[in-house]
Amino acid sequence: MSSASELAERISRITVSTTMRVATAAAELRAQGLDVVDLSIGEPDFPTPDNIKRAAIRAIEENFTRYTSSGGTPELKEVICYRHAQDFGTAYRPSECVVSVGGKHAVFNLIQVLINPGDEVVIPVPFWVTYQDAVHYAGGQCVFVETDEGEGFALTAAMIEPQLTPKTRMVIINSPANPSGATLSREEFACILEMTSKRGLYLLTDECYCRLLYDGTPFSAAALPGAKSTVIVAGSLSKTYAMTGWRIGFGLGPESVIQAVVKLQSHSTSNPTSVSQKAAVEALRGPQDSVARMLAEYRRRRDFVVDRLRAIPGVTCVEPKGAFYAYPNIAVAFGKDGIHSTIEFSQRLLEKARVAVVPGEAFGTRQHVRISYATSIEELERGLDRLHRFMAGLTE
Ligand SMILES: Cc1ncc(COP(=O)(O)O)c(C=O)c1O
Repeated sequence: MSSASELAERISRITVSTTMRVATAAAELRAQGLDVVDLSIGEPDFPTPDNIKRAAIRAIEENFTRYTSSGGTPELKEVICYRHAQDFGTAYRPSECVVSVGGKHAVFNLIQVLINPGDEVVIPVPFWVTYQDAVHYAGGQCVFVETDEGEGFALTAAMIEPQLTPKTRMVIINSPANPSGATLSREEFACILEMTSKRGLYLLTDECYCRLLYDGTPFSAAALPGAKSTVIVAGSLSKTYAMTGWRIGFGLGPESVIQAVVKLQSHSTSNPTSVSQKAAVEALRGPQDSVARMLAEYRRRRDFVVDRLRAIPGVTCVEPKGAFYAYPNIAVAFGKDGIHSTIEFSQRLLEKARVAVVPGEAFGTRQHVRISYATSIEELERGLDRLHRFMAGLTE
């Protein structure tokens, strides 16, 4: 028998998010009065647009401060379906939509209601850290699909196919991807969907960054012919509308799956914050020009960051096609000053140069670090100056 002080087995299957850990370490150094440039956190530096803030203030003044339905207000679910239809041509009904406490919560809950112990979930590398832990928490097994930096970390159906087994239950796609910025074309998505739906597998598409695409028109795999029965969308307002702290995300998919998430939320979080839901209605229904403005600024920063990284001798960097992360290869530093991994590299960079980046090990690769450019050009310049000097100063 276990003693009362022992934790449940399932909590030991997961670890604290590395991105959160790095951000905390950077914040602690800052609290000591040190000048740290934090390029670790994937959080827009823009304020939430005014029209959204005003909708929240109105909601408070009108006392919209009580419980709502666990799966979100009918109004917000309606508007999420409307925006998805406007942007991507899908046709979801509110009963096929659940509002969650951020996109992470939607991803986590969708995985919990779909994955049984022993089920395999296919995840392309590099991956967003939470997929792995959410699958482990559900008792599932992750099956990783390696991508090639030389090919821009591009994923193809042919790379996934050999990994599918009778135990496979789900494939997770994130396009544009965190951390690589790689995107999937509509054609490749269609090939993947054909492959997964033929086998009765769920295709979970994380659309957190889908509107932050630098070239071409954003699209959703959910709009592909035949998508409705097996494609599940996890969405978020955090990055698109600079609303990270408001905690609003959503799931779209078959009614039975979505209602299972509602049931889970009814016993865990209950509703997402009422006031945030009103703000989200305005974000999705109101003017969309702030999204284009922020995207233009992210593009400017991307070009700046990629140029500066490529100017560091030995560093390579794939051009991100979306989202707001660069994922340079810093293996040139290995073997110098006792650095043998990106974890050691990141620690040393923080200690010596006071720049916080996330080691690639967190995302499943061994030679990269993630740099978020969701911060001002001035801050990026300071950080990249320091990174360049730090790398130039390493000795064999
Ligand atoms: C790929 C991806 N999906 C989902 C999320 C969830 O964001 P949030 O929970 O803030 O909506 C993030 C946040 O970093 C992300 O990078």
